[in-house]
Amino acid sequence: MADEQRSVTQVTKAIIPVAGLGTRFLPATKSTPKEMLPIVDKPAIQYVVEEAVSAGLDDVLMITGRNKRSIEDHFDRAYELEEALRVKADIDRLNSVRESSDLAQVHYVRQGEPRGLGHAVLCGAAHVGGEPFAVLLGDDLIGARETLLKRMIEVRQTYGGSVIALMEVEPEQVSLYGCAAIRPTDEPDVVTVTDLVEKPPVDQAPSRWAIIGRYICDPGIFDVLRKTPPGRGGEIQLTDALRELARRGPAEGGPVHGVLFRGQRYDTGNKVDYLRTVVEFACERPDLAEEFLPWLRDFLARHEAGSTR
Ligand code: UTP
Repeated sequence: MADEQRSVTQVTKAIIPVAGLGTRFLPATKSTPKEMLPIVDKPAIQYVVEEAVSAGLDDVLMITGRNKRSIEDHFDRAYELEEALRVKADIDRLNSVRESSDLAQVHYVRQGEPRGLGHAVLCGAAHVGGEPFAVLLGDDLIGARETLLKRMIEVRQTYGGSVIALMEVEPEQVSLYGCAAIRPTDEPDVVTVTDLVEKPPVDQAPSRWAIIGRYICDPGIFDVLRKTPPGRGGEIQLTDALRELARRGPAEGGPVHGVLFRGQRYDTGNKVDYLRTVVEFACERPDLAEEFLPWLRDFLARHEAGSTR
């Protein structure tokens, strides 16, 4: 492939929508974005930006809204704090404060009102232009050891079109997700997506393969989103636009492929998963596990015995 052609198809930009209301996490999210809730000592959104950067995407566009200023502050320099730490020669903390502002080139666009994930992605059209781009949901974490996003970019390079990430869920959970009808390809972890349904009742779900918060979108999706009417919940759904692309040929922005993901994923916008995430991440941290794990074991033993109060 000629260099010019390759540069057209390469994925270099990521959109991270963070303009949602976070109603599942109220009242904590009344004035704090759910993407800023800490997973141990780092906000969830920083893990997501780190994942984008490690897949080679260091041009990040966040779609923000009201009450989201703390996200912008987090990825900006904090001169007074840095100076105070420098004077105290607290180098470790100084480095940890600088880490988030040095990570990537972060840009911001406002979504005005939260009219759905599809509408949020459409707000990034001018920044992205005519290139394929990644979408990472700001409250959805993928384990640091996973290479899902890199694999999705590879699949886009091979098959063109758009690529979604699919995870098999229990039947009773299907109605919480967008769900895919799929056809196998020659690669065991790649499928052709033939249809998509947003949050189907369990008896109408085409499979147990649920869409999780990572996407590689063909720029053709913007035209489709502009014409996509509000769907479920009165919101413009990204799933509805991808469903339209799944029916199209390569000349019109299609097709859609899915990468079957069997690794670690955490939905931090959901209370139980959030707790699970914090505990798992704490147990993996060498500086915390030594003290935290024995306490956790002891707590569980006392809980089983009914003596935790
Ligand atoms: P969610 O549906 O999980 O976010 O959207 P939400 O609406 O904030 O959550 P609940 O259901 O009220 O608790 C997935 C991602 O898309 C963003 C959210 O910020 C989240 O990161 N989003 C959603 C937008 O940016 N704009 C929207 O209009 C909707």
